[in-house]
Amino acid sequence: MGLAGKKIILGVSGSIAAYKSALIVRGLIKSGAEVRVLMTRAATDFISPLTLATLSRAEVVTSVHSGDSWNNHVELGLWADAYLIAPATATTLGKLANGICDSPLVAVYLSARCPVFFAPAMDVDMWLHPATRRNVERLRGYGNHLIDVESGELASGLTGQGRLAEPERILAVLDDHFARHRDLAGHRLLITAGPTHEDLDPVRYLGNRSTGKMGIALAEAAAARGAEVTLVLGPTELSTSAAGITVVDVRSAREMYTAATERWADCTAGILCAAVADYRPATVAAEKIKKHGEELSLRLVPNPDIARELGLRKQPGQYLIGFALETENGPANARAKLERKNLDLIVLNSPRDPGAAFGHDTNQIQLIDRNKATAYELKPKRAVADDILDRLAVETAPS
Ligand code: C5P
Repeated sequence: MGLAGKKIILGVSGSIAAYKSALIVRGLIKSGAEVRVLMTRAATDFISPLTLATLSRAEVVTSVHSGDSWNNHVELGLWADAYLIAPATATTLGKLANGICDSPLVAVYLSARCPVFFAPAMDVDMWLHPATRRNVERLRGYGNHLIDVESGELASGLTGQGRLAEPERILAVLDDHFARHRDLAGHRLLITAGPTHEDLDPVRYLGNRSTGKMGIALAEAAAARGAEVTLVLGPTELSTSAAGITVVDVRSAREMYTAATERWADCTAGILCAAVADYRPATVAAEKIKKHGEELSLRLVPNPDIARELGLRKQPGQYLIGFALETENGPANARAKLERKNLDLIVLNSPRDPGAAFGHDTNQIQLIDRNKATAYELKPKRAVADDILDRLAVETAPS
């Protein structure tokens, strides 16, 4: 079982479905997990902390302090291998999505570095309300895993979506998460991400709108699945401090080329996610270029193609994945690129798809290899990362 020996925090908020948290705790303990329970004040109206303390064999935290001692939420957040919030009420979803930190449940959420799973429970109309939809999407956008509601009879007497997922299903989701948790162990993965900046003079550069979100999501997901990751990251506001990732900061395409080519021979796979500038200014002015009344032309020269170079140097056993951002003839152009750069797989995304590509928290992709194209629905980038890594895991599994 994937759950044996795992450290799980269960956050319980105030819904009638809170009674099912007893079954969840019992299931986790039976699977060999260690469990700590956090409850909101409202949850204690529905189920007694004594019940959950007895079943979890540990004190239940209901307040940021007990007596005159402070409950260290940071420590608990770092202790856990996973944080499960079940049931998550509409109020709690709103607080989690907006960082409203008025309970240990939210405080631990904000400081947790482990994967977070949330299983909502509420009445059908609350579930379908745009405010709830937005909060759920926001939480998924942060990389948290939704354990979707089930449909059926609700405590209100209405029938519809909103029931807490059955405890067996919640346990199966967690178990599955840990079972595939280490499926990339042994991989040394090179990931390029973000834009490049090509200097014109000491204050100006040519750049693009890539944020690095997709590459960082890939790096974090791969590290969580056991890979040793080197993330060669162009200039962007974002970065990552997740365990298992070495970040190499670069600025220009040529710096990225050097960082990536130096490391490639030692890697088992590469994912080239960076939006590398195809051209750079032929010369970099030593002083700021002065304004004058005349037209100004820039002479540009081509940058090295990192993907093509890694493709050329690829050895048997190395697997190389590229990205293609196409505005027209997507699949045909992507497959031509796959051939030209000697890639094994190409991730096609189109900036024309709403919510996909640059800057968004979501992406919609097709995975294209020499034989087939597989289309995926619009998903948060972390879930897209897992789809790409699922394919990498399958293609590189020992036969
Ligand atoms: O040729 P195009 O830029 O469309 O190819 C996109 C793919 O090639 C991406 O995987 C991108 O990271 C990679 N690439 C690269 N070096 C370049 C240009 C693109 O690694 N100079």
